Amino acid sequence: MYKIRLATLDDLSRIAKVHIDSWRTTYKGIVSQEFIDSLTSEWSEERQKSVITNQNKFIYVAEDISGKIVGFASGGPERMNDQLYKGEIYAIYLLEEYQGKGIGRDLFIAVIKKLKRNGINSVIVLVLEDNISAINFYESLGGLKVKEGSLELQGIQYKDIGYGWMDTSFLTV
Ligand SMILES: CC(C)(COP(=O)(O)OP(=O)(O)OC[C@H]1O[C@@H](n2cnc3c(N)ncnc32)[C@H](O)[C@@H]1OP(=O)(O)O)[C@@H](O)C(=O)NCCC(=O)NCCS
Repeated sequence: MYKIRLATLDDLSRIAKVHIDSWRTTYKGIVSQEFIDSLTSEWSEERQKSVITNQNKFIYVAEDISGKIVGFASGGPERMNDQLYKGEIYAIYLLEEYQGKGIGRDLFIAVIKKLKRNGINSVIVLVLEDNISAINFYESLGGLKVKEGSLELQGIQYKDIGYGWMDTSFLTV
C-alpha cells in the first residue's frame, strides 16, 4: 500500500535520497562510475527545489504506509522549446526494491493528469539509450520514440532518446 501526493519543500531531503539511491542502482554500468560517485544529496535537493518553487512545475511522491518516500516523479512545461510537445516528465525514480509493483505507472499518471489540468496534453520524456527497463516502461505506457539526442555529463556524451505522447487523453480515462 502506498499513497501518491504532491511534494512540498519538507520532502526535499527525502526525495533527494531516493534520487541518489536510484541513480546509483539505475546507471551503474551506463554512466561513468566517477560521475555516479560524485553525486550528492545537495545536488539533487537543489534540482528538486527549483522544480517545487516554480509555480508551473511540480513533484509527486509515493509514500508507503510508514510515510517513507519510495519514489517520485516531476513534470512541467517542456524545457527545450520543442514545437510539438508542450509538457515534459523531468524525472521519475523509484528505490530499486519498490520497482515493478505499479508505483511508477501511478506516479507517471499523476504527473500526466496534473499537466492536463494545467492545460498540457502532449508530453515528452528523455531517457538514456542504454536504460532499457525505463524504455520498456515508457513503451508499455504508449510512448513513441520521437527524438534522438545526447546528454553531456562531466565531459562525456551519452545518447538519449525522446519518448513522446502527442495526446495523453487515453492515459487519463
Ligand atoms: C522506470 C520506473 C519509473 C518504472 O516504474 P515501475 O514501478 O518499476 O514500473 P511499473 O511496475 O509501474 O510498470 C508499469 C509498466 O511498465 C512495464 N515495465 C516496467 N519496468 C519494466 C521492465 N524493466 N521491463 C519491461 N517492462 C517494464 C511493466 O510491465 C508495466 O506494464 P504492464 O502494466 O503493461 O505490465 C522504475 O522502474 C524506476 O524507477 N527505474 C529506475 C529509474 C529510472 O530508470 N527512471 C527513468 C529515468 S528516464
